[in-house]
Amino acid sequence: MYTEIAYTESVRTTKGAINDAVLLLRGGDIVALPTETVYGLAADAFDSTAVAKIFEAKERPAFDPLIVHLPNLKWLPKVAVVPDDLREVIDALIKAFWPGPLTLVLPKTDAVPDIVTAGLPTVAVRMSDHEIFKKIITALDQPIAAPSANRFGRISPTSATAVSEELDGRIPLIVDGGACARGLESTIIRLEKARGPKPFIHILRAGPITAEDLKKFGKIVTEAHNEAVEANAPEAPGMLANHYAPTTPLRILSSPDDFRPEPGRRYALLSYRGDKKDGYLKLTDWAETLVLSPGSGKLPEAGIRFFHLLRQLDKLEDIDEIIAEPVPDRGVGAAIMERLRKAAAKSGV
Ligand code: TXA
Ligand code: MG
Repeated sequence: MYTEIAYTESVRTTKGAINDAVLLLRGGDIVALPTETVYGLAADAFDSTAVAKIFEAKERPAFDPLIVHLPNLKWLPKVAVVPDDLREVIDALIKAFWPGPLTLVLPKTDAVPDIVTAGLPTVAVRMSDHEIFKKIITALDQPIAAPSANRFGRISPTSATAVSEELDGRIPLIVDGGACARGLESTIIRLEKARGPKPFIHILRAGPITAEDLKKFGKIVTEAHNEAVEANAPEAPGMLANHYAPTTPLRILSSPDDFRPEPGRRYALLSYRGDKKDGYLKLTDWAETLVLSPGSGKLPEAGIRFFHLLRQLDKLEDIDEIIAEPVPDRGVGAAIMERLRKAAAKSGV
């Protein structure tokens, strides 16, 4: 039922691929690299011409800034300003979560080209925890700008195959590092000094580092769902545009009672646990059912599989609509629901 996508010549796993990636990046080219969250489309962050190639390959609008990945902590002051009144909490967050899926938005230095930050005075920074990514960025010894390696607005890639489905023919190399360990893009936060000792932590994008993980470091403010805030002053400008949209229409149910199948239409189910007791499995004769966390209902597992399964469902032919069960809106579930809502809003185009 699935189209088998053959790996192209450009997808490589060998040591040679790591060396080639470094050479291509040094030469001002772009390459797709594995990270622990999703695959990224990488360029030397200080090379504006190389970064422009990312926007071109992804068909990404220029107003949507990129995340800058650091080789090590020595690079932080070269790209970002750590405000004195937030230094303590930033140090604590870095100690707790770097390298890993937490991105900090900080004032930028002049070293970061405007094209990377879409002209914003701030820069989003993180350190990846993927072994292959770390080898490449260490050898390059430069920060790497990298958005997710999908065409603009589409489903983020969590495997080298998914990257080749998105960008084959547009980029010279995809380094295959296997399936991504987290499967959802990094959590993005901005810090704001508050009156007490703890700052406000604005969660601009929910991700693998959860509100529950962050709350001991500050007072959590969740903004990603607040459309009024987004419309007036989008804090993460790309958030408005990022929609992870499958080409097949997608609908999220709030309960099994929400669904009345129409005769003649073919539906596929994205199930949370695949448990009959949840009441979704028997709602209709599903053309396909894929399960995010079979049996156990573990949210981190659901997060790892989310984009992969959404992509599989979107590849099915003759499906009129993808029906998604809601997952619990807490922990990693909040990140899944944020992406599902955006996917539902923009799917089918
Ligand atoms: O896990 C990840 O973060 C992956 C891997 C490759 O590192 N990258 C990723 O990049 O998801 P991208 O471009 O798909 O998403 C980056 C988001 C965009 O929505 C953008 O708006 C936001 O980060 N962003 C970047 N710079 C920002 C800034 N200065 N202020 C606010 N938001 C920013
Ligand atoms: Mg993206």
